[in-house]
Amino acid sequence: MPGACGLGLLLALLLPPVVSASRPGTVFRLNKEVLSYAVEAGKAPLQRALQVTVPLFLDRSGGVFQPTRIQILNVDVSHLRLTFVADFGIRLLAATNFTFKIFRDPEPLHLLLPIALLADTSVEQGSIGTPLVSISSCFSIFDKAIVFDGRNSTAPAMLAPLQSHIKAVLKSKLCLRISNLVQGLNVHLGTLIGLSPVGPESQVRYTMIDTPTITNDYISLDINAVLFLLGRPIVLPVDSTPFVLPQHMGTKGAMATVGLSQDLFDSVIMLMQKAGALNLDITAQLNSSNNPLNTSVLGQLIPEVARQFPEPMPLVLKVRLGATPTVTFHTNNATLRLQPFVEVLAPSSNSAFQYLFSLNVVVNLSLQLSVSKVRLRGTTSVLGNVQLTVASSNLGFIDTDQVQTLMGEVFEKPLLDHLNALLGMGIALPHVVNLQYVTPEVFIQEGYVVVSSGLLYQR
Ligand SMILES: *[C@@H]1O[C@H](CO)[C@@H](O)[C@H](O)[C@H]1NC(C)=O
Ligand SMILES: *[C@@H]1O[C@H](CO)[C@@H](O)[C@H](O)[C@H]1NC(C)=O
Ligand SMILES: *[C@@H]1O[C@H](CO)[C@@H](O)[C@H](O)[C@H]1NC(C)=O
Ligand SMILES: *[C@@H]1O[C@H](CO)[C@@H](O)[C@H](O)[C@H]1NC(C)=O
Ligand SMILES: *[C@@H]1O[C@H](CO)[C@@H](O)[C@H](O)[C@H]1NC(C)=O
Ligand SMILES: *[C@@H]1O[C@H](CO)[C@@H](O)[C@H](O)[C@H]1NC(C)=O
Repeated sequence: MPGACGLGLLLALLLPPVVSASRPGTVFRLNKEVLSYAVEAGKAPLQRALQVTVPLFLDRSGGVFQPTRIQILNVDVSHLRLTFVADFGIRLLAATNFTFKIFRDPEPLHLLLPIALLADTSVEQGSIGTPLVSISSCFSIFDKAIVFDGRNSTAPAMLAPLQSHIKAVLKSKLCLRISNLVQGLNVHLGTLIGLSPVGPESQVRYTMIDTPTITNDYISLDINAVLFLLGRPIVLPVDSTPFVLPQHMGTKGAMATVGLSQDLFDSVIMLMQKAGALNLDITAQLNSSNNPLNTSVLGQLIPEVARQFPEPMPLVLKVRLGATPTVTFHTNNATLRLQPFVEVLAPSSNSAFQYLFSLNVVVNLSLQLSVSKVRLRGTTSVLGNVQLTVASSNLGFIDTDQVQTLMGEVFEKPLLDHLNALLGMGIALPHVVNLQYVTPEVFIQEGYVVVSSGLLYQR
């Protein structure tokens, strides 16, 4: 039994790398509320991006070519709208005012040019499993320029050719700038496939596995988790039925709705079990008042212990999870069922440990899930009684009822502390760099979990 943890690791290493499509499913749904947030967050970057340079204008109005410098003083995106276009992608509509300064003699001229921008972008599955946004069409529509100052009564002859010059330049440059923004966004979305730790030695990577589903209300990405143990992807014998997140789940009006399949939880728990992360040794110090784990206490329940250990000795409980714990989701409740095998040992004369007896334990835990930053964390508490049966004994007959209370007591707290520390680290939800889940809510459904959340982008 002491080699169980090592064996688990070895087995995991011997498993072939991921080849099949059977990976635990997750659905990441961005609702239209996220577009309002993107408008808010995206206005300033868009304004900056649209500040292009305009080449010199050759003014011919005076009879000779007069190179005239043009500067964009300000870009005001007064109205920005993003909408989902069903089965296609996202449409951007921006109403802007460009203010130009024309450096002409004898005094500069200021122009206000209203420009409407329209860009349609498709959202697809990129080759490396990241979302890929690309511009399929982009237009700029120019309104009449308004001359701010200068001698507007005698509209300069240069005005018409000047406007044509500006339009010709902006027509290509503005769409190019929007395209650059989208490229930057793609690089950012690419961080979806970054590795995140799950537990000791184990990691998760999310990849998109399908074309996104786009409706007028949301964009839904099917994402699979690939789990890694010691840096190697592993295949887990899990259900390969694709996970489908029903519509209208979670909180209405939340920016993101994330559906996490039972499969994902089974796989993560299995990974932890295989990695030996769930195993623990419970040891006690003699003279520690809060841990009644010694032979004199046990000797009162099992006379044979008292006979073999006339002097009080500390005991060791080796807790090993041979069977994978099972997670069950029912509406509004999640439970985790553990069936650890517990060996009870005592120090023997030759500084080794002497095996006393072993127990098969069943413990039902209630699992509470919460999200902080980008991680889904769990805490557990014991549901009902810890159930014990004696597996084998070196001490002859052991009355289970006799040891039940003591073992339950010494076993429960360290086990919970251990599990809660582990599950408290949490598993990263699908995310990209600089994006956090805010005001998240977790809903337990029959067979899956839904996280409803706002999103916060912070550099
Ligand atoms: C552009 O500026 C003009 C004049 O200030 C204003 O009437 C108009 O509403 C503005 N348009 C946009 C899209 O900001
Ligand atoms: C520009 O012309 C309009 C009407 O033609 C006039 O009301 C306005 O005062 C003029 N502005 C300047 C700065 O001359
Ligand atoms: C336990 O405590 C008693 C009384 O304080 C002391 O005599 C004894 O040496 C202690 N035993 C150990 C193992 O610390
Ligand atoms: C054994 O545990 C009991 C219960 O906590 C405690 O009262 C007693 O002092 C312990 N004995 C020794 C020798 O530590
Ligand atoms: C969880 O829900 C199921 C089904 O509704 C129910 O049978 C079970 O008792 C509940 N468990 C807890 C701990 O509330
Ligand atoms: C654990 O839960 C299962 C299923 O609800 C139940 O059958 C079993 O009796 C419970 N065991 C303990 C030890 O509470």
